[in-house]
Amino acid sequence: MTTKQQVVEWLEQLAKVYADNKSYLTELDSAIGDADHGINMARGFAAVVDKVSGQDLGLGAALKTVGMTLVQSVGGAAGPLYGTFFLRAAGVCSDKEELTSADIVAMFEAGIEGVRQRGKAEPGDKTMLDALGPALEAMKAAQEAGEDLAGVLEKGRAAAEKGMQDTVPLVARKGRASYLGERSAGHQDPGATSSHLLLKTALETLPG
Ligand SMILES: Nc1ncnc2c1ncn2[C@@H]1O[C@H](COP(=O)(O)OP(=O)(O)OP(=O)(O)O)[C@@H](O)[C@H]1O
Ligand SMILES: [Mg+2]
Repeated sequence: MTTKQQVVEWLEQLAKVYADNKSYLTELDSAIGDADHGINMARGFAAVVDKVSGQDLGLGAALKTVGMTLVQSVGGAAGPLYGTFFLRAAGVCSDKEELTSADIVAMFEAGIEGVRQRGKAEPGDKTMLDALGPALEAMKAAQEAGEDLAGVLEKGRAAAEKGMQDTVPLVARKGRASYLGERSAGHQDPGATSSHLLLKTALETLPG
């Protein structure tokens, strides 16, 4: 079972990972966007930690706070999209004290479906969904095959990494990168990269 404390550790670790990768994500965004993705993610998750660390919130309330904080504190596309991810995930665990691996897969499913609905990106549009979509499929398959949470999240992480790498040759069809047309090809998508980090950090914290 995953405890609320482990979920908070995931969020704290994400703040650290996005702070450590601030320049890297911003550099990726400078090639095909407006050079703010690392700044957005680091600022957003620093605000998240301020709001949820050491607070006596239930799981659902904590994740709802994360979602609202990201929507409010991060401008641009990624804040509302990741905010929607956590708001939808919050809905799945509202009254739960602990999460089974099935709950965690359900959380990712609700969250990723929220990103899809809000951003209206299709597979291959060169967005964060090109990492999140394959990650969800891999996690569901691993879950059905009876793997434990670490196995499920490792499959998700690996699929997100491959999805992230596979964004390199794609031509962007969403967001600012799409203004570049064919010139967006040859660069890794910043949002797919931050999504891979989301899965990687989940693997490092949620199974305990
Ligand atoms: N409609 C969308 N659906 C899913 N993801 C998207 C969408 N639009 C942009 N993104 C993701 O957001 C990332 C850029 O996030 P950033 O924090 O830089 O916000 P931004 O500068 O406002 O974005 P953008 O310039 O793409 O509108 C992209 O790399 C892409 O992965
Ligand atoms: Mg940007």
